[in-house]
Amino acid sequence: MMKRVIWLLSGLNRRMMKLLFALALIAYIACKSIQEHAEMNIEQRIDEMFITKEICLLSPSFSQKYPPVKFLSEKDRKRILITGGAGFVGSHLTDKLMMDGHEVTVVDNFFTGRKRNVEHWIGHENFELINHDVVEPLYIEVDQIYHLASPASPPNYMYNPIKTLKTNTIGTLNMLGLAKRVGARLLLASTSEVYGDPEVHPQNEEYWGHVNPIGPRACYDEGKRVAETMCYAYMKQEGVEVRVARIFNTFGSRMHMNDGRVVSNFILQALQGEPLTVYGTGSQTRAFQYVSDLVNGLVLLMNSNISSPVNLGNPEEHTILEFARLIKSLVVSRSQIQFLPEAQDDPQRRRPDIRKAKMMLGWEPVVPLEEGLNKTIQYFSRELEHQANNQYIPKPKAARMKKGRPRHN
Ligand SMILES: NC(=O)c1ccc[n+]([C@@H]2O[C@H](COP(=O)([O-])OP(=O)(O)OC[C@H]3O[C@@H](n4cnc5c(N)ncnc54)[C@H](O)[C@@H]3O)[C@@H](O)[C@H]2O)c1
Repeated sequence: MMKRVIWLLSGLNRRMMKLLFALALIAYIACKSIQEHAEMNIEQRIDEMFITKEICLLSPSFSQKYPPVKFLSEKDRKRILITGGAGFVGSHLTDKLMMDGHEVTVVDNFFTGRKRNVEHWIGHENFELINHDVVEPLYIEVDQIYHLASPASPPNYMYNPIKTLKTNTIGTLNMLGLAKRVGARLLLASTSEVYGDPEVHPQNEEYWGHVNPIGPRACYDEGKRVAETMCYAYMKQEGVEVRVARIFNTFGSRMHMNDGRVVSNFILQALQGEPLTVYGTGSQTRAFQYVSDLVNGLVLLMNSNISSPVNLGNPEEHTILEFARLIKSLVVSRSQIQFLPEAQDDPQRRRPDIRKAKMMLGWEPVVPLEEGLNKTIQYFSRELEHQANNQYIPKPKAARMKKGRPRHN
């Protein structure tokens, strides 16, 4: 009897045990699935947080305000390369072509250019910035090339004359090679310096110039002269479409603080109460155009059918001394005017004959000198505010040439 009871109990226990085991198993599975579900929820929430965070991080670029850009149909929209596009003139040209609705690629090695000059376009679907030296070949697909890459102010191009020569010769060959490969039109930013210290006044495009081929400025002057020669060799031999702009002195915002040319020197000196340095008697003449006028001229020339060189400059001629006095009065500065010995190879007179541009492009400068100067003074005073101690004095990088002083450009 006792045995039967024990057997019954143990059977019951076994069943109970099985039942309990089954219940425990069910509870375990249920717990596990709840836990997994909870874990999944947490993962989902983390994912969601990351996505939200990423969107937050990205949102400034999503919401970034670009300057207004026109819509151009596929047919009218061009792929445009600007070499030296992060420099003074190049960045203003970038602005115009972007706002006109084109796709712009800026190529620059940042020797004198700055990312800051084009940063307002970074991230825009029509804009690309490439850090590249034009002395190396470049392979991209483009319809037009504005070839501006070259140091432009004497302290900058005399800093490394061999590099200046390479940029203007090998760099130009590379860009002409690219133009030939992809069938693009190339505009060369040449210079009034191809006229040297001119014996003809004002200088028209027929004048062949008066250049010292071994002087301190030859790396630039002769570099640009041979760059023009290369353009016409590619045009005649390879059928490349070329445009050549002979640019005269230009000024405006985004000029480099170390530019070292007369407008920026005088403005910076006047703003800081330093003497305005005039080399020689100050009777040398110069004519200055505002940068927006130049940019309009470059675009008109590129899209014209004129393949011969065209002067782009302001024919309004002033003596250096007049400039010094005008800038002093616009800045309302107490600076003195200081006369220093005349500089080597300093052209006595420089004034463009722009009849060709007027007649064939319908172009002439429209920004009055004082208006342009006031804008440039505002720009330089803002730049000075950025300087830590507000005591910046323009000190162009020393030229490696032993001879030659700064001159009025
Ligand atoms: N500003 C003027 O008064 C003036 C007058 C005559 C001609 N130009 C010509 O116009 C062009 C632009 O002049 P700017 O005043 O804007 O000068 P800039 O120095 O401000 O611009 C030149 C740009 O070219 C870039 N660059 C130089 N060497 C390069 C290289 N090897 N590879 C790639 N990029 C390079 C520089 O970093 C800079 O961004 C130059 O070709 C200059 O000769 C200017």
